[in-house]
Amino acid sequence: MAVRCLLWMGLVLLGALGVLQTPAQAQLSVQPNFQQDKFLGRWFSAGLASNSTWFREKKALLSMCKSVVAPTADGGLNFTTTFVRNNQCETRTMVLLPAGPPGRYSYRNPHWGSVHEVSVVETDYDQYALLCTAGSKGPGHDFRMATLYSRTQNPRAEFKKKFVTFAKAQGFTEDTIVFLPQTDKCMEEPK
Ligand SMILES: *[C@@H]1O[C@H](CO)[C@@H](O)[C@H](O)[C@H]1NC(C)=O
Ligand SMILES: *[C@@H]1O[C@H](CO)[C@@H](O)[C@H](O)[C@H]1NC(C)=O
Repeated sequence: MAVRCLLWMGLVLLGALGVLQTPAQAQLSVQPNFQQDKFLGRWFSAGLASNSTWFREKKALLSMCKSVVAPTADGGLNFTTTFVRNNQCETRTMVLLPAGPPGRYSYRNPHWGSVHEVSVVETDYDQYALLCTAGSKGPGHDFRMATLYSRTQNPRAEFKKKFVTFAKAQGFTEDTIVFLPQTDKCMEEPK
């Protein structure tokens, strides 16, 4: 299997397969005074936590992906992710709709009709962001995943540590937390 992007694959596959995840918990907090305009631009998916069976099996095959976040007309986010598949660069777009307080979005899986809630739980905008994704409706509503996004492909140790603490607070155990290896492929800025 080719290297793939986690946030995107997680939402599409884990939700679809309906694998049992961490049980739904109280709604997550979001970054206080979240400023969407400062969150835009390029991010790398540097770390991920999920205790799904799918993730346990495939985690060794996964690597870092690049995402470009842009605003949509209705106040949501256009999350365009580039990843390597069959030795080629592929992109996927996820449109996140605003859902409640700034920093919280919802995503509807067009194939399965399931709805996921994506929260920017903490960010300093120019170095790191901690996101949490949870299924809220339909198949895969037990799904839960924590992600570390980094502005660079080499997140500083303090942000990795922050992510581990964050993931553990979400109930993920050490063996379900991974840092994704860098890849040179498909990471360039578009010319
Ligand atoms: C994931 O974690 C939750 C709670 O910690 C547990 O109920 C669930 O069975 C776990 N799933 C797997 C596939 O290990
Ligand atoms: C999202 O961004 C991509 C890349 O810029 C663009 O091709 C696509 O049309 C955008 N989609 C929406 C709904 O804004």
